Amino acid sequence: MYGSDGVNDDSERTAFRRTEKKYKLYYDSNSKSSKKKKQPRAVDLSEVIDFKSISESFAVNGDLPAGVSKLERNFDRPVFCLDNCPGFYFIPASLSIEEQCRWIKESLVSFPQPPNRTNHNALYGAIHDLFNAAKTSQVLVKEVTVPGEDISNDVDANFHNHRWASSEEHDSSVNGGNCRSISASVLLRKLRWSTLGLQFDWSKRCYNVSLPHNKIPDALCELAKKMAAPAMAVGEEFQPEAAIVNYFSSGDMLGGHLDDMEADWSKPIVSMSLGCKAIFLLGGKSRNDEPLAMFLRSGDVVLMAGEARERFHGVPRIFTDIENADIGSLEKKLSDEDDICYLEYIKTSRININIRQVF
Ligand code: OGA
Ligand code: MN
Repeated sequence: MYGSDGVNDDSERTAFRRTEKKYKLYYDSNSKSSKKKKQPRAVDLSEVIDFKSISESFAVNGDLPAGVSKLERNFDRPVFCLDNCPGFYFIPASLSIEEQCRWIKESLVSFPQPPNRTNHNALYGAIHDLFNAAKTSQVLVKEVTVPGEDISNDVDANFHNHRWASSEEHDSSVNGGNCRSISASVLLRKLRWSTLGLQFDWSKRCYNVSLPHNKIPDALCELAKKMAAPAMAVGEEFQPEAAIVNYFSSGDMLGGHLDDMEADWSKPIVSMSLGCKAIFLLGGKSRNDEPLAMFLRSGDVVLMAGEARERFHGVPRIFTDIENADIGSLEKKLSDEDDICYLEYIKTSRININIRQVF
């Protein structure tokens, strides 16, 4: 489900797969000169719903396209619904630039910290301070194992005994042999997910309450509760118990899936987009149903509750080119010297934080 390449021989088999393939990033291979930079294949975006322009024209003249309506409920900004998809809510530009920057930083610095798990756990065990290590060009070095020491029962143990080292220190010790290493910047680029609150076990596809975990930070809980309100029954409050943070770089996609491991599907999943613009596909209850495509920009919030939770959905594409990424105001806000490291990351990345009530 979470892979950078969901397309194989079955790629044309369902309507969902066909649409994924339509929007997925492919490079044109017709450029003869190898020196010429590969060009992304042109893609027709005319059918992609754009809630930014819908929201702008609504603000000017109150007009909405057929099939889109504004939720008649007290909220501090317009919430849009699709007439054919009850339980789906789109809140354009819901997060301020300040909030976006804050959650980008947290997603990179604190969310991947143990006991929160990341996709790196399986290969390397718990890794501390990844972002800082990448910023300071460190390498993760596997310590030479003591002969006889058996760590083979530990599934997370390949690099169990590891430490950060400066590249220079590592270069000079490499001659000693028996030393495996990987740079923090490569590990940061390969970070695909981290989990907050109750930890999700991807191998068993369930929440594992026995895994050590911290509560979702209060500020994120408060934000999620506020954002979830349009999808909640009057008088009920959303209880954020787990969150999955997805990290996308150019060419990454999130294949069509359902999130079905939570007990009460009437409760929304609160999904926040940060960084580069993406295409989100909202399908039907079967992969054979033709999905709708829509843009997701930094600061947009999507809620999926009730019937909408039974719909296949995914992200076939993120845009990292200047014209399409649509992160001008983020770039401006992160242009201070102290923030350059975040800017460098987010210029070619997208982060999605989706928050769930599990029970
Ligand atoms: C998910 C998900 C959507 C997104 O993580 O389950 O659907 O916008 N993410 O990245
Ligand atoms: Mn999902």
